Amino acid sequence: MPIEQTLILIKPDGLCRKLTGLTIDRLDASGLDMVAAKMLSVSEKLAQEHYQEHLGKPFYPGLIRYIRGEFHGFKDHRILALVYRGENAISQVRAVAGATNPEHATPGTIRGSFGRVTTAGQFENVIHASANPADAAREISLWFKPEEILA
Ligand code: RTP
Ligand code: MG
Repeated sequence: MPIEQTLILIKPDGLCRKLTGLTIDRLDASGLDMVAAKMLSVSEKLAQEHYQEHLGKPFYPGLIRYIRGEFHGFKDHRILALVYRGENAISQVRAVAGATNPEHATPGTIRGSFGRVTTAGQFENVIHASANPADAAREISLWFKPEEILA
């Protein structure tokens, strides 16, 4: 099985709702190794680069506001960026994260346990997780310098 690295963002709702520890607990329980961690406030430029594949979609403007910390009446600009490493890390973390829509996410997954959908239909789904090896490589280099990853 391939040894992979994958990018995780604990999104502003996760920080605001004090879900950081619970989320990391689920990730650690997967047996993968945390090899990088950084708290930051997401600039408009970084948000746009990270979510470039979604430019033009109906949910894009709300997604950029959400990842920058404007969500459901709250304003909490912090996110926690993490890199986890191990066998099949990308698909393993996607499985722990659960489906994009919290209402469809399997109970016991991070999004199934902690995510919610606003009355306006926006997904507040607590974490981002890289979808495939190409995305993981691009996203990790966007959020971390090579020397910040202690693999
Ligand atoms: P992520 O990139 O955050 O890990 O989520 P994902 O792969 O499961 O889903 P993706 O399709 O990449 O969507 C990125 C983020 O956009 C928001 N979204 N809202 N209301 C909607 O229909 C909708 N669809 C996507 C979510 O915040 C999702 O995580
Ligand atoms: Mg995605």
